[in-house]
Amino acid sequence: IFALLCLSSGLVSSSGDRAKDNGDIFIISYDSFDGDVDDISTTTVSSRAANYVDFDEVLRECNSSFITPMSHVLQFNTTGKLLDEKDLTSKCYFRCFFEKAGILDNFKLNGDLVRKYMWPATGDSIEYCEGQGKNETNACIRAYTITQCAMMRALTDARNKPMV
Ligand SMILES: *[C@@H]1O[C@H](CO)[C@@H](O)[C@H](O)[C@H]1NC(C)=O
Ligand SMILES: *[C@@H]1O[C@H](CO)[C@@H](O)[C@H](O)[C@H]1NC(C)=O
Ligand SMILES: *[C@@H]1O[C@H](CO)[C@@H](O)[C@H](O)[C@H]1NC(C)=O
Repeated sequence: IFALLCLSSGLVSSSGDRAKDNGDIFIISYDSFDGDVDDISTTTVSSRAANYVDFDEVLRECNSSFITPMSHVLQFNTTGKLLDEKDLTSKCYFRCFFEKAGILDNFKLNGDLVRKYMWPATGDSIEYCEGQGKNETNACIRAYTITQCAMMRALTDARNKPMV
């Protein structure tokens, strides 16, 4: 995901018109955003081929609500961590990113997409990661905790390409 994600950031301007063509996408501007990601549509996979995820679009939309430096994204890509583990904006960015990509839905990982874009997850690793942050009441922190777990697994096991 992140390889795609990073490569694609250069193309953001060229994809600027795409949202207009996709009726189920809307963007809440940063200024008016109240912090509730549930207000943002999470169905982007729909009209394309099954399991196809437009990471360009996901990155652009999530970064418009939760402005996160590319360096944070790169760091997460290579270490599975944030420099500042209290950085809630970045956590909300990753929550948005993984939810819009369809990889995470209501704190459940989509096994097919995880295996396609992250790593060839086997055994109970998906269930294990979903259980992380279970007691966390902040949705961004909880979602981040789950995706961080998945990312750490991807980094320590063989990572599928293309990935974050
Ligand atoms: C992200 O990680 C993947 C897999 O290790 C790597 O191929 C890719 O180059 C990384 N992306 C960046 C921009 O560092
Ligand atoms: C998000 O947007 C800011 C400001 O436009 C930009 O500097 C930053 O690189 C973007 N982050 C990502 C991950 O694309
Ligand atoms: C979550 O809460 C349950 C019940 O209060 C507790 O048993 C469990 O240890 C907690 N898990 C974590 C990871 O803190």
